[in-house]
Amino acid sequence: MSTKIQDFYRLHSGFYDLTRWFFLFNRKKAVKAMKLKQGDTVIYVGCGTGHNFSQILRRISKTGRLIGIDYSPDMLNQARKKIRKNNWKNIKVVQADATNYKLNTKANAILYSFSLSMFPDWRQSLKASYKHLKNRGRIAIIDFSEFNGVLRLLNPVFNWWLYKHSVNNKQEIAQFLKKMHWKHSIKETRTGYNKIIVIFK
Ligand SMILES: C[S@@+](CC[C@H](N)C(=O)[O-])C[C@H]1O[C@@H](n2cnc3c(N)ncnc32)[C@H](O)[C@@H]1O
Repeated sequence: MSTKIQDFYRLHSGFYDLTRWFFLFNRKKAVKAMKLKQGDTVIYVGCGTGHNFSQILRRISKTGRLIGIDYSPDMLNQARKKIRKNNWKNIKVVQADATNYKLNTKANAILYSFSLSMFPDWRQSLKASYKHLKNRGRIAIIDFSEFNGVLRLLNPVFNWWLYKHSVNNKQEIAQFLKKMHWKHSIKETRTGYNKIIVIFK
């Protein structure tokens, strides 16, 4: 049985890469925040069509490993096309629910790029990822936030538009991270449109 998200991305997967540059900003910054090194293993949760794959591979080199997880078979098909086209050998993509995934591997870094806010059970997903993280590893999250300054006036419409796209940017992440006693940093971008969170283990 397919879910609402899978149906949504069945429709969108074909033109996803052509359209998302327009509003999913700062994805490269999240990759940078993982501070990757050659040979690292990375898990990319909600990898979609594989945007960021090339950025990650450039940093981990051929000796590293990248595992992408996504719930949508159609988004993963686009990711697989990219992998074949570029002849990338050290990436594997897996269809799984990010809120209870289990892999037989631990990662140096884990990335969520505009995906965490789509998971109703985002806390479970972060707990699963924390378990998959090696000591001294990092989880980097780039996601929507709320405008500040004058742009604040746009927030009701912005939040409604996000809600219509199954995004909840009102998650209480800061409280959750404190409760878990996980070392972390949260940085809002200048306008407040995005936030980058890094969790350190
Ligand atoms: C906005 S897209 C982001 C894709 C990619 N990370 C990027 O930056 O372009 C969100 C992705 O999260 C995936 N997703 C949503 N809910 C999921 C879940 N419960 N488990 C795994 N993936 C999920 C969707 O299928 C979609 O590919």
